[in-house]
Amino acid sequence: MLPVTKASEAAIRDAGRILRDGGLVAMPTETVYGLAGDATNARAVAGIYAAKQRPSFNPLIVHVENLERALGIGIFPDTALKLARAFWPGPLTIVVPRRPGSGIADIVTAGLDSVAIRMPAHPVARALVAAADRPLAAPSANRSGRLSPTRAADVAADLGGDVAMVIDGGACRHGVESTVIDATGKRLTLLRPGAVTAEAIAAIIGEPPARGSHVSARPNAPGQLESHYAPNARVRLEASSTEPGEALLAFGDDVPATTGPVLNLSPSGDLVEAAANLFAHLRALDATGARTIAVMPIPTHGLGEAINDRLRRAAAPR
Ligand code: TXA
Ligand code: MG
Repeated sequence: MLPVTKASEAAIRDAGRILRDGGLVAMPTETVYGLAGDATNARAVAGIYAAKQRPSFNPLIVHVENLERALGIGIFPDTALKLARAFWPGPLTIVVPRRPGSGIADIVTAGLDSVAIRMPAHPVARALVAAADRPLAAPSANRSGRLSPTRAADVAADLGGDVAMVIDGGACRHGVESTVIDATGKRLTLLRPGAVTAEAIAAIIGEPPARGSHVSARPNAPGQLESHYAPNARVRLEASSTEPGEALLAFGDDVPATTGPVLNLSPSGDLVEAAANLFAHLRALDATGARTIAVMPIPTHGLGEAINDRLRRAAAPR
């Protein structure tokens, strides 16, 4: 059972410091409790997946303090801006194209070129994002496969390990997750129904949003592949050597000699470090123009399960 700290100015100051140092803090929001980490720190975000014991990577929501910060992270079309002005702070998450150079770690968006952003209304969440002074990635603070927590005690009972602090801000007002709306296309698409209704959105935009399905709704459906970053290069798994024209995605210290480009997920064999580097390294090797990315075997325990899941998807025939 994790210890719980009652929300106070001092607690929020401490939590802000923990987050800046790359630690994880469970925080109350108006929807559900979130497990927050610095969205610009890939290692911190990899730690979120580890703490949730997630077997796969899902793009996470970035929580911001104000609209200015949001505009620095995403490129907001007019409709997205209208929604932000109408519903923020509040339980609406808006998916927009990711702004190049925003500093958001690739692992936050699972390699996608879009990013989900929300400005929470809960005073503790707001104070915490301000104290951290950086955008916070925060999925619901439950172990993978369990219900989203609406009280600090639920979080404490469900999560363990590397969560530095659980802040108790009382029971969540809404108890359901934020509404997720995709504003990257011509027409708005409702990806996840939530605390802000489709009717309320239609009243602002003048037409009801189209219906879509969010990434985690169909975890095993092939459709999920399309919405994740897929390298242009072919991906070859379990490689123990490379062939001419191949780039190498290495793991551990026993790397075969090769003449092509090489990036190592974790020379020391640390799976959290490997997860933190996965999407950025895949992108970088893809950008070399290599025909194939050969990937060394990755252990399957802990975060290795999520890493191998993602690699299998990248290697699947398209
Ligand atoms: O109420 C909430 O939103 C809570 C609190 C803690 O803020 N957070 C939450 O996060 O529910 P999470 O990670 O459990 O849900 C993120 C949702 C998923 O359905 C995911 O597929 C979708 O947002 N999502 C995130 N980034 C996306 C993207 N770039 N494109 C499409 N969907 C995205
Ligand atoms: Mg969740």
